[in-house]
Amino acid sequence: MNIKTVTLLGADGKLGPAILHALLAADFTVTVLKRTSSKSPDNTYPSHVTVRRVSDDFTLDTLVPVLQGQDAVVVTIKGTQTGVQTKLARACVQAGVRRFIPADFGSCDSSSAWAQSLVPLFKHKTELRDVLMQLADESKAFSWTSLVCGHFFDWSPEFLHVWVRERRAETIDGGHAKWSASTLARIGEATARILLRPEETENRVVYVQSFLVSQVEVVRAYERATDSQWAVKDFESKRYEREEKAKADGGDREAVENLVWLLGTLDGNWEEKDGFAMKLLGLENENLDAVVRGVVEEHASKS
Ligand SMILES: NC(=O)c1ccc[n+]([C@@H]2O[C@H](COP(=O)([O-])OP(=O)(O)OC[C@H]3O[C@@H](n4cnc5c(N)ncnc54)[C@H](OP(=O)(O)O)[C@@H]3O)[C@@H](O)[C@H]2O)c1
Repeated sequence: MNIKTVTLLGADGKLGPAILHALLAADFTVTVLKRTSSKSPDNTYPSHVTVRRVSDDFTLDTLVPVLQGQDAVVVTIKGTQTGVQTKLARACVQAGVRRFIPADFGSCDSSSAWAQSLVPLFKHKTELRDVLMQLADESKAFSWTSLVCGHFFDWSPEFLHVWVRERRAETIDGGHAKWSASTLARIGEATARILLRPEETENRVVYVQSFLVSQVEVVRAYERATDSQWAVKDFESKRYEREEKAKADGGDREAVENLVWLLGTLDGNWEEKDGFAMKLLGLENENLDAVVRGVVEEHASKS
């Protein structure tokens, strides 16, 4: 299976631009797919990127002709939007698209019972994975790969409970647990490598990272990068989980993000997983200090 043409849905989100960049760098022929109602402009991509718009309801009739001739589809819309992704995957089967990469890219392994019990998003992602497995069973020409990358490391320090300007951070249980995290560039690169190695990555979940770190190591790296001592507040995990879950059940969205932070920290060591795919994809760990310096510099340039 040789993949050359790739359609990307979600090119204007948080992750989409990094994936678009990596796909183009790997010389794929890229089409950006978007809804008719999408407000993001069509003229911000490189000139050799094709833009196709489809009706907001993502009907098979409108999708299939747009997807014909495409070898792969990559989706970077919200992971909760499984209805859209299911329609798209069914259209891929009809159009003869051979590889589908869903909007997984998780902080956590969505099949983890703990993750599913705390955050509904992960149950949705697993349900979509079940649909993809069924489609791949029914149609031998269709296949899927899910990429699990750990917390996005360089998207928003606050998401990782790191406040750069205030020189402070939060940790869980002393900050010693090891967790995998990925830069947006690493996730883009890994996505392109999956499509360059379609046989080895067929119908499976692959786990990648930029590095395996502890919160203490991350704080120390920020202290080195800012040449200052940081204030650290630590939480006991069981109590934190109980309190944030109660808030999340009451509709508090920040509490949901806090639970994702907790899960990605305590249940996010990909080096222990069978599907750890750094070697398979020909990827090496990145340097934590260099990445943290980049985050600090970007932060300084914005303030
Ligand atoms: N591991 C982590 O730390 C982490 C963090 C965040 C996200 N994620 C995961 O990364 C993936 C991408 O998430 P993201 O946060 O980057 O997404 P996002 O920023 O919410 O993505 C928005 C994109 O989706 C498009 N979109 C929105 N609604 C749509 C719909 N109904 N139909 C079609 N397109 C729609 C938007 O297009 P227009 O604006 O053009 O309309 C935009 O391009 C998800 O799987 C998410 O769970 C992981």
